[in-house]
Amino acid sequence: MSLSGKSVLLIIGGGIAAYKSLELIREIKKRGGAVHAILTKAGSEFVTPLSVASLAGEKVFTDLFSLTDEAEMGHIELSRSADLVVVAPATADLLAKMAHGLANDLASTALLATDKRVLVAPAMNVRMWTHAATTRNLATLKKDGVLFVGPDEGEMACGEFGPGRMAEPLAIADAIETALGSKPSGKGPLSGKHVVITSGPTHEPIDPVRYIANRSSGKQGHALAAAAAAAGAKVTLISGPVSLPDPHGVKTVHVETAADMLGAVEHAMPADLAIFCAAVADWRVKTEAKDKIKKQKGAPPPSLALDPNPDILATIATRKKGRPALVVGFAAETTDVLTYAKGKLASKGCDVIVANDVGAGTEVMGGDANIVHLVTVRGVETWPKLPKTEVATRLIAEFARLLPKKS
Ligand code: CTP
Repeated sequence: MSLSGKSVLLIIGGGIAAYKSLELIREIKKRGGAVHAILTKAGSEFVTPLSVASLAGEKVFTDLFSLTDEAEMGHIELSRSADLVVVAPATADLLAKMAHGLANDLASTALLATDKRVLVAPAMNVRMWTHAATTRNLATLKKDGVLFVGPDEGEMACGEFGPGRMAEPLAIADAIETALGSKPSGKGPLSGKHVVITSGPTHEPIDPVRYIANRSSGKQGHALAAAAAAAGAKVTLISGPVSLPDPHGVKTVHVETAADMLGAVEHAMPADLAIFCAAVADWRVKTEAKDKIKKQKGAPPPSLALDPNPDILATIATRKKGRPALVVGFAAETTDVLTYAKGKLASKGCDVIVANDVGAGTEVMGGDANIVHLVTVRGVETWPKLPKTEVATRLIAEFARLLPKKS
């Protein structure tokens, strides 16, 4: 693994973990990368500009309104000249500024002005990390495609214990390599291609506390996203509610309902390859109750009137204009797997159906292994039982082969 030829803009926020950023600079340089650093005013209370500049071997930037800094490298150029922007430590304040698009110092201005991917390593007190405001900001940033590494759990400088410790410099450097390795300019069979993938279940609200859902874990879809990124693609993963971390190097968009998922997929277009792995709820409740539905003594249970959800796969596969060159659907069945899969290949208008048996006893849903059948107009190919990550790598290699050369 190497960072040679890569350049990182490192933004050092004001937290005790800033001392670890000095080690991070050494690690990036050891791996062959170059570092430009911005030290926030609060950051300079913890580490000095001189130590940062000495380790980086470059001038450290601190002030938005410095005439000398602007003359040497303007804040816009600073924010764009790197291959990746890394914020470590990312304090609660910096995350809040990023989530709200504030730009009142050099660090936040560079973050708003950049056209590069951003990787953040949060570090803060456990209560700040678990505060509702930080949770909201994180959700916004994840939706915006910001990448995260850490935080770790453990004893903190303030004496409390829990999540909030900045990830170790080695782990951050690995995350930097992963994020940069997945750039479309990277080598790999999908280099230069845009891949859109849906994953996980959808939740269809009944009232403010209840929803219709299914057992999908998102493991297979998320593994496909990671495999496509490793194959050099630019990947947009549209994920329903899952408890998995966002894969490194992948733009992950979080949605709840099938309608939102369709909207996010259409927004992510155009794509060369679209893989629909999500277990989309077929129906949604006709009218979501505004308040929690209460039991009425002696009254029968309420009945739910349902409306059909849009079929996301069929909508994209039958597009007249801007159809991805290769459209892949999944078929999770409990009986007559191949018969249903062949039917879906025809009825949905896709090029490949990846079929699997999710019946009781197979432990596919939520489990770590999968037996898949590849169904195309040319026939059926059945693969042995494999870990979902291995299934993902093989499927991505297969789709890269099937992709028309001039898509
Ligand atoms: N799919 C979709 N949008 C839906 C329903 C399904 O995009 N509203 C996609 C799934 O992501 C999958 C394929 O269609 O790639 C088949 O999904 P599946 O749930 O197996 O089939 P359904 O079309 O829902 O049919 P049924 O539930 O009757 O088996």
